[in-house]
Amino acid sequence: MGSTPAALRGCLLVLTAVLSLVMLPARGQQFPSRPITLVVPFAAGGPTDTLARILSERIAADLHGTVVVENVAGASGSIAGARVARATPDGTTITIGHWGTHVLNGAIYKLPYDVIADFEPIALIASGPQLIVGKKSLKADSLKDLVAWLKDNPNKATAGTAGAGSGAHVAAVFFKNKTGTEFQLVPYRGAGPAMIDLVAGQIDLIFDQATNSIPHVKSGAIKAFAVTSPTRLASAPDIPTVDEAGVPGLYISYWHGIWAPKNTPKDIVDRLNAAVMVALADPGVRQRFAELGQEISAKEQQSPAALAAHQKAETEKWWPIVKAADIKAE
Ligand code: MLT
Repeated sequence: MGSTPAALRGCLLVLTAVLSLVMLPARGQQFPSRPITLVVPFAAGGPTDTLARILSERIAADLHGTVVVENVAGASGSIAGARVARATPDGTTITIGHWGTHVLNGAIYKLPYDVIADFEPIALIASGPQLIVGKKSLKADSLKDLVAWLKDNPNKATAGTAGAGSGAHVAAVFFKNKTGTEFQLVPYRGAGPAMIDLVAGQIDLIFDQATNSIPHVKSGAIKAFAVTSPTRLASAPDIPTVDEAGVPGLYISYWHGIWAPKNTPKDIVDRLNAAVMVALADPGVRQRFAELGQEISAKEQQSPAALAAHQKAETEKWWPIVKAADIKAE
């Protein structure tokens, strides 16, 4: 009789241990309990969409779930920003964004949300420069020719942008200021549709993310004048830097990250971060990104804290520059 409670206690301990072992994986599988929507704040077929689609499959595999890419274009990504900022913070609505959406928009637009305070950073993904690209029939074969041609034809040329106030718009304004040229800006719902018109010869130029331009430069459908970085791209080594091509210092680095709505629980943020890190370590993903001129962030830079720090530093750097240049969304 005296041994019964001890035996019972023993049994209970074993049962608890077994139950917790059984329940551990079940708890791990609770997220995601339904498909995750990865909001792309621009039109399909553009650079952000391309990166999202390369990553989403690998992220989904790691989460044993489904990731649906949804394009919510308009107002340089701020329509999507508002939608994700207001979404239920349960990790099933997240967004890929970049220097434009999560830094510039805060300086240029009157937003119904805060680009920093209303989001939970998940991971800093990668960065890449822009290419200054032109339609094939343009009467210029180098950046110097282009500047001379623009000076001879003030306000005649058109440059497509990914929306008023987007990175392409900001880069075009910096270029105009540095070169003393004038041309018109044509806003699109993303760099994807702008590229369709450049290839078709409907517009003359784009200050475009390399991800979007490289395949078209390689196929000969458009021409590239320069890369907006101090070094050439390994995947497109024939394209000169802006320094080499005659507009020194016009450096633009377009970095991408992933965010969830503010107040998404930390364990879900950490789970999403782990899945993104697995995706970024995948050899197939790394090769595709390299081909597109994307430098994947170093492992220690892929954390939520690193994205928060980078976004803050970029905001402190760019907001005064953009405000001093008086760049407006209208
Ligand atoms: C896009 O996907 O259209 C771009 O990320 C837009 C941009 O260059 O800002």
